[in-house]
Amino acid sequence: MLETIEWTPAGVVMIDQTRLPLHEEFVTCRTYEDVAAAIRNMVIRGAPAIGVAAAMGVALGVAQADGGDLDAQVERICDTLARTRPTAVNLFWAIDRMRKLYQSLRGRPLAEIRDRLAVEAQQMRLDDIAINRAIGRHGADLVPDGKTVLTHCNAGALATAGYGTALGVIRAAVEAGKKVDVFADETRPFLQGARLTVWELQQDHIPATLITDNMAGHFLKSGRIGCVVVGADRIAANGDVANKIGTYSVAVLAKENGVPFFVAAPISTLDLTLASGDLIPIERRPDAEVTHVFGHAVAPEGTPVENPAFDVTPNRYVTAIITERGVARAPYVESLRKLAGELRP
Ligand code: MRU
Repeated sequence: MLETIEWTPAGVVMIDQTRLPLHEEFVTCRTYEDVAAAIRNMVIRGAPAIGVAAAMGVALGVAQADGGDLDAQVERICDTLARTRPTAVNLFWAIDRMRKLYQSLRGRPLAEIRDRLAVEAQQMRLDDIAINRAIGRHGADLVPDGKTVLTHCNAGALATAGYGTALGVIRAAVEAGKKVDVFADETRPFLQGARLTVWELQQDHIPATLITDNMAGHFLKSGRIGCVVVGADRIAANGDVANKIGTYSVAVLAKENGVPFFVAAPISTLDLTLASGDLIPIERRPDAEVTHVFGHAVAPEGTPVENPAFDVTPNRYVTAIITERGVARAPYVESLRKLAGELRP
C-alpha cells in the first residue's frame, strides 16, 4: 500500500503531493515548522492526512523541545499547526487529542512525554487506515455493480494515512468482486482529481477515466453513473458537508438526475458543535492557483480572482454519509449524533 506519511528516525516523511503524478518524491520534515509548511503548501493534503500530519508535527515539536517552559512550547507548536488550514476539522481534532495527551502527562519526565506523544501520533496513523477500511466495508454495499462511480477531488490513500475514504469505498467494492470503474473530475484549480485520484487508482489497476469538472452534468444525465462518492472536510450537525470546491455542483446535478450522492468520512470529520454548514470556515487560497496552471498564466495579468478551496453541500443533496461506525441517513441531526455516540441507540 502507498505510504502517504510515515514517522521515521529522520523525521516525518511524506510523499510530495505537489509533484505527483510526474515526480514521485518524498519530503522529510525535521521540525514541526516543516510539518506546518508542508500542510499549508499542500505537500500533504486531504482532511484525515493533515490530521495525522499535525499529530506527528506535535510529537516532532515536543521531541525538539528544550528545557524551558514546556507548556508554553506545546501551545506554540499546537497553535502553529492549527493556523495552517482552516476548513478540515480533522486537523483541530488531531491537535486537540495530542494536547490532551500532553496535559495528562504533565510532570512526567520529558523523555517519557516525547515517547508517548510519538507513539500516539503513530497510532493515529494506524487507526486512520483501520477506520478507512471500516468505511469501505460499510460503503461497498451501496456501490452498484457494473456501473461507473463519479468522484471529485482526491479522497484516497493520498488524502488519508492509507486506503482512503471515498476511494476506500470504491476499493472495498472492487475487493468484494464488483465490477466498478471510476470517473474522476479533474478538480480545478489544484487538479487533485487529475493529478492524484487518477494516479492512485492506476497504481491499484482500478479503471479510471478523467473528465473536466464541467462534464459531470453531461455524464450524470447519461445513465452511466451509478453513484457519486466523495470525501468531506467537515460535516455539520445537520449533515451539511464541506468538501472540495465543486462538490456542491456535482451533488445538485446528481439529485437532478436521480443518482445517489454518498459522502464517505470518518467520525473525526463530524463537527457537531456547528448547527449547519453555513458556520464552516472556508479557506481562500492564493489567486495564482486560478490564474496559472503549472506556472503558466491562463488569464490576463491582474484579473480579479475568487478562490474558495471548499464549498458546502446542503444535507438535502446527500443520500447517505458513510462512516466507520455505519451509514447515516436523513434526518442527519439524529443519525449523526447517534453514530457519534451522543445519543443512546
Ligand atoms: O484542499 P484539499 O486537497 O486538502 O481538499 C481535500 C478534499 O476536499 C477531500 O475531498 C477531503 O479532504 C476528504 S479526504 C479523505
